[in-house]
Amino acid sequence: MDDESGATSISRRRLLKQALFGLTGLALIDALVLEPEALEFVEIEIPVPRLDPVFDGYRIAHLSDIHFLRGVTPDFLSRAIDMANAFRPDLFVFTGDFCDHRATSKVPSLRGLFDRCLARDGIFGVLGNHDHWLDAQGVRRELDRNTPVRIIENESVLIERASGAICLAGIGDLWEGPMDPQRAFWGRDPAIPRIMLEHNPDFAEEMHANHPGDWCDLQLSGHTHGGQVKIPFGPAPSVPSRYGQKFRCGLVRGKSHWVYVNRGLTSLNRPRFLCRPEVTGIILRPTAPESGTTKAAASQSSVP
Ligand SMILES: [Fe+2]
Repeated sequence: MDDESGATSISRRRLLKQALFGLTGLALIDALVLEPEALEFVEIEIPVPRLDPVFDGYRIAHLSDIHFLRGVTPDFLSRAIDMANAFRPDLFVFTGDFCDHRATSKVPSLRGLFDRCLARDGIFGVLGNHDHWLDAQGVRRELDRNTPVRIIENESVLIERASGAICLAGIGDLWEGPMDPQRAFWGRDPAIPRIMLEHNPDFAEEMHANHPGDWCDLQLSGHTHGGQVKIPFGPAPSVPSRYGQKFRCGLVRGKSHWVYVNRGLTSLNRPRFLCRPEVTGIILRPTAPESGTTKAAASQSSVP
């Protein structure tokens, strides 16, 4: 009897061990091979105060953190842009880190990479810390000469319709600057809703503390990559933010305005676990100023 129960417990332990090895193997395959390539489309409705009814349903495609050529190929980027085009955006925005100093010592050719972007109101972007660490002037020049992406740094553009408008501003990167929201919004009618592109989501808190006279309704950011690796039912162990998990990803209430944090496209040639590369489709709604709801997260996906 004792021998029998001993043998049973050994075979149980062996089974448990095998299951654990199996699960670990599957998680590694997912994190190293599948997830970095598994683009996820996230559609979200965001209510914006004072939004003219003519902009009800306005669609913004938001991409971020390409880090070309680190973990991102031209084909992968094309797939991401096609996914965004399928959303039929009115506007395309990129929130920084187009390039990466760890991938190349000089600005790579970006010719043709963004030609597929389709949006009637244009394609705008801001630079991120890695663009600066490579060569901010060079990245800006390359985007300007060889792509349809227009970098707006501490400046804004008006997107106008017959009865209303949206003000879209770009702010310099939080770590590398210069950041000047006052200049960006200078002369703009405060009755017009303001959307701000800023690579680093932490700027939401910095703006509240250091630029008390300036404001916006919605900030679009990237930078944190969602932490890239997330513990099941737990946090991401590493998020490059002064505010811990707060700005890891998704729609977040900053001290004075809403922030949407895109998880980025690249994997940086590192694992991604429970944190797929993201293409975001934002739909603006003219409703309550103090709310924001995910309509259909992960409504589309594409796995190679
Ligand atoms: Fe990045």
